[in-house]
Amino acid sequence: MKAIGLYQYLPISDENSLEDLELDYPKAQGRDILVEVQAISVNPVDTKVRAPKDKVEVETEPKVLGWDAAGVVVEVGDRVTRFKPGDEVFYAGDITRPGSNSQFHLVDERIVGNKPSSLDFAQAAALPLTSITAWEALFDRLKVSETGDDAGKSILIIGGAGGVGSIAIQLAKQVAKLEVIATASRPESITWCAELGADAIANHHDLTHELNRLGHPTVDYIFCCNNTDMHWPSMTQAIKPQGTICSIVENKNPLDLAPLKSKSAGFIWEFMFTRSMHQTEDMAQQGILLNTVALLVNAGTIETTCKEVVKPINATNLRAVHGRIEQGTSIGKIVLSGW
Ligand SMILES: NC(=O)c1ccc[n+]([C@@H]2O[C@H](COP(=O)([O-])OP(=O)(O)OC[C@H]3O[C@@H](n4cnc5c(N)ncnc54)[C@H](OP(=O)(O)O)[C@@H]3O)[C@@H](O)[C@H]2O)c1
Repeated sequence: MKAIGLYQYLPISDENSLEDLELDYPKAQGRDILVEVQAISVNPVDTKVRAPKDKVEVETEPKVLGWDAAGVVVEVGDRVTRFKPGDEVFYAGDITRPGSNSQFHLVDERIVGNKPSSLDFAQAAALPLTSITAWEALFDRLKVSETGDDAGKSILIIGGAGGVGSIAIQLAKQVAKLEVIATASRPESITWCAELGADAIANHHDLTHELNRLGHPTVDYIFCCNNTDMHWPSMTQAIKPQGTICSIVENKNPLDLAPLKSKSAGFIWEFMFTRSMHQTEDMAQQGILLNTVALLVNAGTIETTCKEVVKPINATNLRAVHGRIEQGTSIGKIVLSGW
């Protein structure tokens, strides 16, 4: 089968950074399903895993990246109960296993959802990783009510136009009924955030000043989807007493929790691979939440964040998309479709 992977961790300008490969056809066992992948999406995690390392590392077996896919189930393991051949699915997968940049891909059924029937494969492939991240951040970590009981409370979403921010704005607005302040710094990202439902837009280059300008010096929740170090002082200042900050972006410097103490404010991480990486007892919640997202999409409550589809899926096109994601300026999601 066709796949794209790497042996060496190289800058994306190097044509060996991602190579076209021919790999053996995998076999589904246990709780795994085998999916014929129709479309994939690229996330910053792909570029972080692919990036050159401090110490030169060479893989003896090709490393396949990719943690967003939509496709059709072709085979199921002997312990699979939720899917059968022919089912259309979407999922992010497990960072500890080979990724979805291959024609056929094994994934544990517990972290897979039914593809939204109203979307084609490309539109669906834009959603899983970012939806899981935003859903877990809002409803599991920040403990926002899924049923609208926190309606009217305010949330600041930093990085509103990015892949995660684009779905987080919609879930916060349409599902949780929060007042959403998103950050965006360019005309096109400002327009995108407003179209997705943000009530107000703050420029992240001068966040504290911007929140004051908007009449929102403090907020109940903060979801940080970009540069935790840079935004930490503004976030600790802007969080309300007893509020919570959730970040998905690793810090480079120590984070000073002291400013949160007098406010009894909290800080929590979200890492969407936690459940599969640690095989947590509630791992199947990811499949359940993806099904909920699919129902919300089918009902028209939220929409796909797919902004662009690149065809076909091959190393040349994947390298080009990695290069664009590395620039940190993409809006919504870029998807690759067809082999
Ligand atoms: N922990 C997890 O489970 C998890 C899951 C998914 C993603 N992540 C991480 O979360 C981050 C965001 O992912 P993503 O897919 O949303 O990224 P993305 O799509 O590449 O984000 C691009 C957007 O970021 C905005 N941006 C750039 N610099 C910024 C800054 N300094 N402050 C605020 N916004 C800025 C840009 O818009 P403007 O500059 O126009 O505003 C741009 O539209 C990445 O670091 C990723 O690795 C973590």
